[in-house]
Amino acid sequence: MTRTSIATVNSCINERDDVVLSPEQYREALSRFPSGVTVVVTKDADGISRGFTASAFTAVSQDPPLVLVCLTKTADCYPAFVTASKFAIHIASEDNVELATRFATKGAEKFAGNDFDSHPDGLPALRGATARLSCSLYARHDGGDHDILVGRVETVQLGRGNAPAVYHDRKFRKLAPLGR
Ligand SMILES: Cc1cc2nc3c(=O)[nH]c(=O)nc-3n(C[C@H](O)[C@H](O)[C@H](O)COP(=O)(O)O)c2cc1C
Repeated sequence: MTRTSIATVNSCINERDDVVLSPEQYREALSRFPSGVTVVVTKDADGISRGFTASAFTAVSQDPPLVLVCLTKTADCYPAFVTASKFAIHIASEDNVELATRFATKGAEKFAGNDFDSHPDGLPALRGATARLSCSLYARHDGGDHDILVGRVETVQLGRGNAPAVYHDRKFRKLAPLGR
């Protein structure tokens, strides 16, 4: 492991101590970043649906319309995404939390339920999602133990105002307005 120095901040006395970054500290720091939740799907070379839950999703470019999602190289669905020329990203709603948990579970029967419709792009469409982005693969980059999949957004489908799911501090949460 690369020995990286980070600083811990003592909020009471505002002192900073340099420490060596451990995997636990790295994960702990990132767990403090709240994110949305996506469910990413594709089909493998045999036409079988595959997918995973991802919070490592971001908009990249408006022109052309690009987004990215990061996929761990150890995922069972990784080979499917290596060969796929298209994938779909669903922004999960509060109603999709149980499904997002299933899609984050290795070995789960991810498409066993009645959660998906068919879509003209040939990939499953998650019911109740806040939005769905139909993507063609634009670029793939190495990202350490992850691949960075850059998708060109071909079409979008908007949900009917369902509230998005949020992930923070290792828990699914709801968005709440700030007082005023
Ligand atoms: C809220 C949440 C967000 C996640 N984000 C990602 C992510 O951005 N990239 C990733 O590769 N795995 C992420 N995971 C873990 C994968 O969903 C999980 O490892 C999945 O089972 C991998 O697919 P597999 O079942 O095909 O191995 C996340 C899990 C959760 C619960």
